[in-house]
Amino acid sequence: MTTQTVGIIGAGAIGKAMAKQLAAAGIDVILSNSRGPASLAGTVAELGKQVRAGTVQQAADADIVFFSVNWNRSEALLRSLNLQGRILIDATNPVILPGFELAELGGRNSSQVLRDWATGARVVKAFNTLLADVLASPPETNGGRRVVFVSGDDAGAKAEVLQLIERLKFASIDLGSLEVGGYLQQFPGGPLPAVNLVKLG
Ligand SMILES: NC(=O)c1ccc[n+]([C@@H]2O[C@H](COP(=O)([O-])OP(=O)(O)OC[C@H]3O[C@@H](n4cnc5c(N)ncnc54)[C@H](OP(=O)(O)O)[C@@H]3O)[C@@H](O)[C@H]2O)c1
Repeated sequence: MTTQTVGIIGAGAIGKAMAKQLAAAGIDVILSNSRGPASLAGTVAELGKQVRAGTVQQAADADIVFFSVNWNRSEALLRSLNLQGRILIDATNPVILPGFELAELGGRNSSQVLRDWATGARVVKAFNTLLADVLASPPETNGGRRVVFVSGDDAGAKAEVLQLIERLKFASIDLGSLEVGGYLQQFPGGPLPAVNLVKLG
């Protein structure tokens, strides 16, 4: 299936950066936050006609759902949504601000925890390692393409996210399962956050 619309839950630094890249690739976006569509009028006007504001549930009903909400607000939100069968890109980091401490995860990585909160969703971890201003920058750079790391356990969902990454003109590196890749991608603690890698050729 070719993704027609991506719903973004969380319209902060990362959500807006992703909306910009999706719009540049000609993909429709529904952008949502906790305060409702009216609060996003100025933001969507800046992002152009490909991007419209919606409710969180409207974003959650899109072909692919991009989740970019603060960690401490994610559990209650995900448990309140019906995400059965949906592809859910987890762009979160399990950070407790302001000290940037690792949240309590019970010995698992954050995407494994988040998958339990998002009952029935097909979770793919991606887009959480680039800083927002880097994610917002042109993916074709220095003679190559900026890399997005990906991990997940649902092969079909991962294939669709890899296809989406290709359409956005990023490169991808598949790190395998959520159990393996989730730790490598995790901030704080993993080795890959803030790595700005460009794949040549
Ligand atoms: N900033 C980065 O460079 C970066 C890089 C990689 C990953 N991340 C991760 O991405 C996530 C978002 O980071 P950010 O920097 O974009 O945060 P941010 O600028 O604080 O934005 C957070 C967004 O989440 C929304 N939100 C919070 N609770 C919500 C709820 N219950 N329902 C709907 N929307 C809700 C907020 O909406 P309201 O404002 O309306 O409350 C806001 O639009 C975090 O997990 C972070 O660790 C950030």
